[in-house]
Amino acid sequence: MRITTLAAAVFAGGVSLIAFSAHAADDLNMICSADPEVCDVMKNLFEKQTNIQVNMVRLSAGETYAKIRAEARNPKTDIWWAGTGDPHLQAAAEGLTQEYKSPLFDQLQDWAKKQAESAKFRTVGVYAGALGWGYNTDLLSKKGLKEPKCWADLLDPAYKGEIQIANPNSSGTSYNTLATLVQIMGEDKAFEYLGKLNANISQYTKSGSAPVKAAARGEATIGIVFMHDAVAQTVEGFPIKSVAPCEGTGYEIGSMSIIKGAKNLENAKKWYDWALSAEAQSHMKDGKSYQLPSNKSAAVPKEAPKFEDIKLIDYDFAKYGDPTVRKSLLSRWDKEIGAKAN
Ligand code: G6P
Repeated sequence: MRITTLAAAVFAGGVSLIAFSAHAADDLNMICSADPEVCDVMKNLFEKQTNIQVNMVRLSAGETYAKIRAEARNPKTDIWWAGTGDPHLQAAAEGLTQEYKSPLFDQLQDWAKKQAESAKFRTVGVYAGALGWGYNTDLLSKKGLKEPKCWADLLDPAYKGEIQIANPNSSGTSYNTLATLVQIMGEDKAFEYLGKLNANISQYTKSGSAPVKAAARGEATIGIVFMHDAVAQTVEGFPIKSVAPCEGTGYEIGSMSIIKGAKNLENAKKWYDWALSAEAQSHMKDGKSYQLPSNKSAAVPKEAPKFEDIKLIDYDFAKYGDPTVRKSLLSRWDKEIGAKAN
């Protein structure tokens, strides 16, 4: 190769290298485990306010936990935002997430602070939402079905093939449901219940909110999801009614974690502090996301199901956020339920 060409190649390479590194300095690699619409709203807002480019993928919480475990030696992700708190706690317990206490910590609700303190500041609460379901009111009346008010109602053979729920391996919503039923009924009774419910399940979806989106489109009658996901469909104009189970129900502390070994650690901390701010959290509703925000000064969406109206169990986040408990519940689910899925 002639010197000039070589020099030109090196120069060009050099420029692209500099450009690449400059580009990299303004990057943030994020996994978002909330719904796609709110993931986009928050990504775009942060990019506009900081000029940091967010490379984002939406993955369910169980999928994300598996991915960051697999990549632990060479992490591809800097920040994991949203998704149920159980897998964030499991990841923290396994040292997959970075300890970080935000300067905004004291602006948070007690439940959000407790989430961080229980995980030695390797995660933090960003929102909360109660578990329940949404059903299609048109389909229910057309089929002459009774309104499902309680967990026990869902076993009615009249609902055969009418219900959807996610797979608890991939979905944080579904793992939260499994852990909720275990806490309400005891483990053996909960698996007996899930075995009977299996007869009424038409599909175990990958993502947690998919079942109520199917109900909104009339592809199912009932979708077991977080109540705010059912409310989001109602707000969209679908004939969906959300239900808080009469026996009581669990709830999620949607969380956020910086991945251990994050290549863009400073940008990850910028996102972390920004996502805990009242201003940022007040925009969740712009993405039709109606959870309760963790910043005490954030505006609570008027559509958000209110915890004071719901019979909540005292969900044991420490126990069900333990990786060994996760492993044992999911392997039992695979054997006794997944293996018999329709
Ligand atoms: C929806 C809910 C979130 C929840 C998330 C979990 O996006 O609105 O509150 O954290 O589902 O997703 P997954 O697919 O893991 O159940």
